[in-house]
Amino acid sequence: MDNENNIFLKENKDNLDYKEILNVILNNAYEWLVIIDDKGYIMMMSKGYKEFIGDMVPEGKHVTEVIENTKLHDIVKTGKTQIGEIQIIKGQQVIASRLPIIKDNKIIGAIGKVIFKDITDFYDMSKKIITMEKEIKYYKDQLKKQKSAKYSFSNIIGESKSLMEVKNICQRAAMSDSNVLIMGESGTGKELFAHAIHNASDRASGPFVKINCAAIPSELLESELFGYEGGAFTGAKKEGKVGKFELANGGSIFLDEIGDMPLQMQVKLLRVLQEREIERIGSTKTRPINVRIISATNKNLEEEVKSANFREDLYYRLNVMSVNIEPLRKRKDDIRPLAKALVKKLSSQMGVHVDSISEKAMAALEAYDWPGNIRELENVIERSINLLDSDRIIKVSTLPVHITQSHKTHVYIAGSTLKEQLYDVEKSIILECLNENQGNKQKTANDLDMSRTSLYQKLKSYGID
Ligand SMILES: Nc1ncnc2c1ncn2[C@@H]1O[C@H](COP(=O)(O)OP(=O)(O)OP(=O)(O)O)[C@@H](O)[C@H]1O
Ligand SMILES: [Mg+2]
Repeated sequence: MDNENNIFLKENKDNLDYKEILNVILNNAYEWLVIIDDKGYIMMMSKGYKEFIGDMVPEGKHVTEVIENTKLHDIVKTGKTQIGEIQIIKGQQVIASRLPIIKDNKIIGAIGKVIFKDITDFYDMSKKIITMEKEIKYYKDQLKKQKSAKYSFSNIIGESKSLMEVKNICQRAAMSDSNVLIMGESGTGKELFAHAIHNASDRASGPFVKINCAAIPSELLESELFGYEGGAFTGAKKEGKVGKFELANGGSIFLDEIGDMPLQMQVKLLRVLQEREIERIGSTKTRPINVRIISATNKNLEEEVKSANFREDLYYRLNVMSVNIEPLRKRKDDIRPLAKALVKKLSSQMGVHVDSISEKAMAALEAYDWPGNIRELENVIERSINLLDSDRIIKVSTLPVHITQSHKTHVYIAGSTLKEQLYDVEKSIILECLNENQGNKQKTANDLDMSRTSLYQKLKSYGID
């Protein structure tokens, strides 16, 4: 800066106490400074530095006498700046920078700065940066995931004949470019299969875009699917909006809950499927699209066609390949492998160790009807993991009552009194609970909310001590 033009300097020339300013700079709490002359003798040193070294009047002494392992005197010889060097002073690793002071092309001294007084400060700071970088990566990945399919066929668990068949058809469908319709009750894995089909197809590197036709109000569905031009209608965004079909170009679009699509939208969708092009709302320009359609529904579409809630022509277009995923109660063979796989998945997600599932608990899971299918099974297992005892075993006592009860069937036995029958039921409840608790009587008494004495009496009456 030109001093002649610097009004601040001009007006305050006489008042300025440069030494004061220098003192403030020297004594700032975050950096330590030392200044030497061209021979290596200390001219100034900041207070904090002096205190650390334990010499309050180092001025006039040679820097090598005052600071351990210093290289500052070399700088006055070489004139080379050193930035971020590790130096050990009093057993502490510090990070230092060294700069020559040059006037009229001559080195007249050097400044030594300690930037980090403790290398752990530096590590803390780099850790913060690494964490921030990780966070950025996480959000970037999330953004990418929004437009990509997460699951593949290897994530689909089950060995039942019917599931293998569905898997087989879907694998073949993946290889073709045909539209696929996936039917099945809620929670049977329709979305899982849609992801897997996309991932196994040669569109895998393209986008996978999902739209839930039931969740979007019917008046917004058209603009969600096809987009609109800027100013197409009141309330529309100025810059317009890209529709899901355009977003999915080159990949797959997953039309979830297709059975809930309003009839007037079905007409528009049919047109897109026939023409393979879309028109944004408010635009006359058509845009070609290259998208495979995977649709899913938990409704019986054939019935919907019959009752005129779903267009027959659209049904045939979507239904080039179709699969029907059976409810879990009709493929009970899958319960065991699914339960095991879900325990593994959830325990690692929750960071909880699970040892195993007891045979009795497994039998209860297999006996239950699973109206909510695999999603319900997933919830039940998550709940059980939250209720685990120190033995880390999923037991009947960690399962919800409505599941365990359905598998205990107490029926009236002819020729036996109420008292006798109640005695038998009570006995089987107590023994089962004792079994679940691996013979731990205190735990059994607690679980059944009875006194220990009364439990002992009952066990004695069954001939068990
Ligand atoms: N065969 C399977 N193997 C492993 N996990 C499964 C399987 N089937 C379903 N799941 C899991 O069960 C949950 C429900 O599956 P998904 O969301 O695909 O069901 P859906 O049929 O789309 O249900 P809805 O009709 O309610 O949307 C998901 O967490 C999914 O990962
Ligand atoms: Mg779904």
